[in-house]
Amino acid sequence: MDQIVVGPEEHVFVLTGAGISAESGLPTFRAEDGLWAGFRIEDVCTPDAWRRDPAGVWAFYSARRESGMKAEPNPAHVALAELERQIGDRFFLCTQNVDDLHERAGSVRLLHMHGELSKSRCERECGRAPVEDRTIYRSLAEVGRCSCGGRMRPHIVFFGEIPLEMDRIQSEIAQATLMVVVGTSGNVYPAASFVHWARQNDARTVYIGPEPPLNAQAFSQVVLGKAGEVMPGLFVVGEGKGTEACLQKWKL
Ligand SMILES: NC(=O)c1ccc[n+]([C@@H]2O[C@H](COP(=O)([O-])OP(=O)(O)OC[C@H]3O[C@@H](n4cnc5c(N)ncnc54)[C@H](O)[C@@H]3O)[C@@H](O)[C@H]2O)c1
Ligand SMILES: [Zn+2]
Repeated sequence: MDQIVVGPEEHVFVLTGAGISAESGLPTFRAEDGLWAGFRIEDVCTPDAWRRDPAGVWAFYSARRESGMKAEPNPAHVALAELERQIGDRFFLCTQNVDDLHERAGSVRLLHMHGELSKSRCERECGRAPVEDRTIYRSLAEVGRCSCGGRMRPHIVFFGEIPLEMDRIQSEIAQATLMVVVGTSGNVYPAASFVHWARQNDARTVYIGPEPPLNAQAFSQVVLGKAGEVMPGLFVVGEGKGTEACLQKWKL
């Protein structure tokens, strides 16, 4: 299998999706039938669902909290944490996932563009920051209220809402010389556009997953396989200064 060489001056931007957590036992979102863990997304993760049925939304995200807490990081999460340990500030991880398996594997420089299961925030966007909350709610009566009176909702970007920290994401992509995308179907925007933004800056772009994503033609390389199987040992970090070491590795 070809290895991916990370040169001594390179900046790596990684985008992960539900597929990287599949081998940890967390179901992906299936765009073909619009189901996530057996639920229709319009019933459980849209602003409209929250207005209509907050109890149903909390039941869904409480179940995701429960299974997320039981899951363990797999070798793909560990491989990314290891790459970050080797290249430090030249690494940045943007995940669409709401689980915390990247953090638990040791990733530090990461951003959850679609929110985090382990937090809740005020439904009124009153300006108060999200709070840590891993409670598994059994009824809506147990869900607290913000000091402004608004009901607490999951700190999740519902379908149709704007992802978090897009400015930071854009500036990290602008610096990247290598973009690695793992386990995302290329269905959910704006994440599906990131590969095009990276290419505008001539970055190399690699996709890793068991099947080509919808936007496969935009990648310079597609590594087909399960992330947990193909990612350990996939990255080779060029040592030393200059391009010599890096070029040597390319020839391996
Ligand atoms: N774990 C989570 O946090 C989680 C789980 C499901 C959905 N979601 C949310 O739903 C949306 C889902 O969109 P998405 O594009 O991330 O996922 P998606 O479910 O649309 O696509 C999953 C992709 O993962 C690939 N895949 C399956 N098994 C894999 C494996 N072992 N290794 C690598 N890839 C594998 C599939 O081929 C598919 O392309 C996101 O916005 C996300 O927030 C999150
Ligand atoms: Zn509030």
